[in-house]
Amino acid sequence: MATYIGTPTSRVDGRAKVTGTAKYAGEVNVPGLVYGAVVESTIAKGRIIRIDASPARRVAGVLDVLTHENPPAMAKKASAYKDDVAPEQGSPFRPLFDARIMFSGQPIALVLAEEWEVARFAATLVQVEYERENFITDFSAQRDQAFAVEKPEKPRGDAEKAYAAAGVRHQADYFIPIEHHNPMELYASTAIWEANGKLTVYDKTQGVQNVHQYLCHVFNLKADDVRVVSAFMGGGFGSGLRPQFQVALAVLGARALQRPVRLVLTRQQMYALCYRPATIERLALGATADGTLDAMVHEAIGVTSQYEDFSRNDTGWSGLLYKCANARYAHRLARVDLPTPADMRAPGAATGVYGLECAMDELAVALKLDPVELRLRCYSERDQHQDLPYSSKKLRECYRQGAEAFGWARRSPEPRSMRDGSDLVGWGMATGVWEALQMQAAARIVLTANGHAEVACAFTDIGTGTYTIMAQMAADRLGLPLDNVTVKLGDSSLPQAPVEGGSWTAASVSHAIAKAADEIRKELWRLAKDVPNSPLAGARLRDIALVDGNIANQADSGRVVSIADAMRHGGLERIERETTNKFKEANSHAHNTHSAVFAEVKVDEELGVIRVTRAVSAVAAGRILNTKTARSQILGGVVWGIGMALHEETMIDHRFGRVMNPNIAEYHVPVNADVPGIEVIFVEEPDDIVNPLGIKGVGEIGIVGVAAAIANAVYHATGKRVRDLPITLDKLQR
Ligand code: MOS
Repeated sequence: MATYIGTPTSRVDGRAKVTGTAKYAGEVNVPGLVYGAVVESTIAKGRIIRIDASPARRVAGVLDVLTHENPPAMAKKASAYKDDVAPEQGSPFRPLFDARIMFSGQPIALVLAEEWEVARFAATLVQVEYERENFITDFSAQRDQAFAVEKPEKPRGDAEKAYAAAGVRHQADYFIPIEHHNPMELYASTAIWEANGKLTVYDKTQGVQNVHQYLCHVFNLKADDVRVVSAFMGGGFGSGLRPQFQVALAVLGARALQRPVRLVLTRQQMYALCYRPATIERLALGATADGTLDAMVHEAIGVTSQYEDFSRNDTGWSGLLYKCANARYAHRLARVDLPTPADMRAPGAATGVYGLECAMDELAVALKLDPVELRLRCYSERDQHQDLPYSSKKLRECYRQGAEAFGWARRSPEPRSMRDGSDLVGWGMATGVWEALQMQAAARIVLTANGHAEVACAFTDIGTGTYTIMAQMAADRLGLPLDNVTVKLGDSSLPQAPVEGGSWTAASVSHAIAKAADEIRKELWRLAKDVPNSPLAGARLRDIALVDGNIANQADSGRVVSIADAMRHGGLERIERETTNKFKEANSHAHNTHSAVFAEVKVDEELGVIRVTRAVSAVAAGRILNTKTARSQILGGVVWGIGMALHEETMIDHRFGRVMNPNIAEYHVPVNADVPGIEVIFVEEPDDIVNPLGIKGVGEIGIVGVAAAIANAVYHATGKRVRDLPITLDKLQR
């Protein structure tokens, strides 16, 4: 029989996506659709003293303009706007709540019109007078005001003393600017009030049940009266974890007009919604001359808004990743007049590990040690924060297989010692680490007597391949061909799931499906035993497997009853089972994914142009469910890492407090010409401790370490250490 898990299975939703039959949140067509357009604040801080929408209202086709002055029936209390992913501290943004302006680009009016073009045009006519207040968007100006947040990991020993006593020391600040997610699909919502008073919202979100709960609270609606759908997404990367303001505005507009409303933000408007916070990562590493790490201090300062405290674990990775007796961590936040930052692919790790892995490279240089060798000398066999063994950790194999594939042994250690014509060649490497998380989720399987199964869960597929692995898992567990499995997801009315994030979806949904399939197997076993003259009459449940449409006794392969026969005799057209998978906290072990990233850069010596010419990412992430989609995840992560290292930077004009490059022409991301051949290696990592199926998740590990590997390669090529990302050619000349 076919086994789909572990194979390079093509996306089951691929055809629908490339042929356009997959409908995205901003593409849902219904009769009577109204189009919304958002008017944004042009100042960064202050109050609206007058807002005049009458010129907009006079435009033919404009139906209404909503502002804080015709106060919409939305919750007043900030607590109603909290969502599953909201920072614990602070008060969430409330669109059109009052006259106060907290950031440039803040939505201050919603224009509703019969046509999209009319709505956008009319939005330009809304007249606003502001009372301006002083603001600060410059992170560096706010550094000194930074305040400590969250509890960082427990310190070990006395890091300061050990650092002072260390034979070889390195200390530096590494900087990562604000970056934006820039998913291809624009943020969009279509809100439809049905004739029966119920609300259906097609929303671009990573968490349909999160948005569902949010809308119920904000609009005081009953859970049963609201349905949120996000069937397809053109990229999320964390930008869709929290409800975005356009979903509240679309629902608001639809309720005001009693007509369906579509609201799609412009690319420019998306820059005023969420972003990866700029951070300074200060690393101090001390070692003995033989390369034993003895002291480590990792302090991060990140930006947050004036109204919420957003932070992630930037510093804890350091003491986790390397053996070091003395370690201390600190995390502080500096407030700026920008919207609240958000999770963005491998939040905390992409930034914190960038600092750590560049610092390790600099320490290796100071020690005159090969960077891989230094990491092997500091290899941690246990999670030192909790003093626990890992459920599995094949990082050593990542180093070995990655180095071999890359040809690392041929590296000449001196900077500027490798050349290719007029190019300086640099080889760098870094380690990546992420968490192997799993969350409670439920799945429902409906098996029909014709041999079809429908598997359903509220998780979304943000493009990572969730549809496909759900189908693979159900097909394998039910012994059906992949084509006989239909997947339903991204709908709040489906069985419970948290937001799609944290790389936890694959493990969480797979175990829910496996459990539901087990219950179906049990029911089929019961039915099969009752078939007249059943060859399975005496079979035990644990010997029963579902194979090729049959209920089979594994102990005696000749003994089978077809699923169709068993169901017909039992008088059942369908068997439906829904199960929740509750994971036990694996307190006995630490669970992480790891990677070793190797990168080659070529730097034109005269022009300073930097190109990444080769990259190898060797990943240990437990069982790989689909080697094709998983590889795509790692490729995407490496491309992101290239962008982080060399291209991406949100620039703010601090005189206006406004993003200057809110478009993909001026916010640089790697294009095809910037992306070289990338080799992805999945290192075998069996693990029956992390969870029964050994799944760890791959959505985020792919980016972690990549920017550091490239930065280290640039140093190796040029002898010049640029610690502020992105590494642009002007910084090489300084
Ligand atoms: Mo991911 S940043 O958890 O979508």
